[in-house]
Amino acid sequence: MQVRLHVQRSDPVTGETRLQLFELELPREATLLDCLEQIKDEVDGTLAFRRSCREGICGSCAVRIDGRTALACRTPVAELVAEGHAPTIAPIGNLPVVRDLVVEMEPMWQKMRAVEPFLRPGPDCGLDGRETPIPSARLDAVRKESLCINCGACVSECDAMTVSPEFLGPHALVKAWRLVGDPRDDAVAPRLKGLSGEHGIWECTRCYLCNERCPKGVDPRDAIAKLGAEAIAARIDRDRGARHAKWFVTSARTTGWLRESELVVRTLGLAFSFAKIPLALRLFRRGKAPLPLPRHRARDLAPARELRHIVAGQDRRGALGIVQGERALERIDFICSPEQPVGEDEP
Ligand code: FES
Repeated sequence: MQVRLHVQRSDPVTGETRLQLFELELPREATLLDCLEQIKDEVDGTLAFRRSCREGICGSCAVRIDGRTALACRTPVAELVAEGHAPTIAPIGNLPVVRDLVVEMEPMWQKMRAVEPFLRPGPDCGLDGRETPIPSARLDAVRKESLCINCGACVSECDAMTVSPEFLGPHALVKAWRLVGDPRDDAVAPRLKGLSGEHGIWECTRCYLCNERCPKGVDPRDAIAKLGAEAIAARIDRDRGARHAKWFVTSARTTGWLRESELVVRTLGLAFSFAKIPLALRLFRRGKAPLPLPRHRARDLAPARELRHIVAGQDRRGALGIVQGERALERIDFICSPEQPVGEDEP
């Protein structure tokens, strides 16, 4: 199979980057990592990239392929070069480039260390130096997060980190949920408090690209949502992000709609909202913001209230109320079939 690909090369001294075209001959079952290894072995030994296991386990070979982050060792190259396409291979995003496809991972490790990714056991754990056995089912809440291989794909895709480099980011927050969701951990409240501050859980923009690109199905956005839900359940909810989320629920319950004009005041507070009046007037003049009064109200409030009633009846508090990614949608038991419309049959 003929393979043509562009690889982003960079000079560590000058910082200059350029794309270099390589033309290779590989078997049809080759992976992108096979391509990079052939380049290094036979064409240009100066190409720098990371790899170790070749099996999707060590997480070291993540790269961007035409802008999408993936593991090179798990990417069949035949799909990439279909119809003569020559893909562009670049280092992962949001981390400084050391050389070619190698990035400096230390900023990611710093954020991981900041969430103290180790168990702080309670007084009942590890008595007499023994292990603390817990039923396997009690770890279900953190099982997905335990699959993380630290490849940095979620960090690479995170738009919030691009705009705000101080944001803890999906990788560190996955580690945080791994501990907050562990029944043996005795530091849940201080952890949630720390994570709810500036650059914490509420800085996520919910773009879901981390869920989309994680090669192990960890679904980092779900972990962040679970942290937010647990923080609100524990009444650690003074952050603007928490107030924003809570107002969505109040607005839907009281009028069946999201009342966006009020959302600003409820999220930012009255004093800070005054500063936004010129912006609000400009938006209003262009027809992009509704007047706060009269309140926008659904003609029929019953479906919105019924939905809330059904969800409340399931008693899914905190993290239990978080839908686990789109892949789990089919497992939600409050989706109503056409034969059983909402409100006709109590769950
Ligand atoms: Fe280990 Fe790809 S080489 S994950």
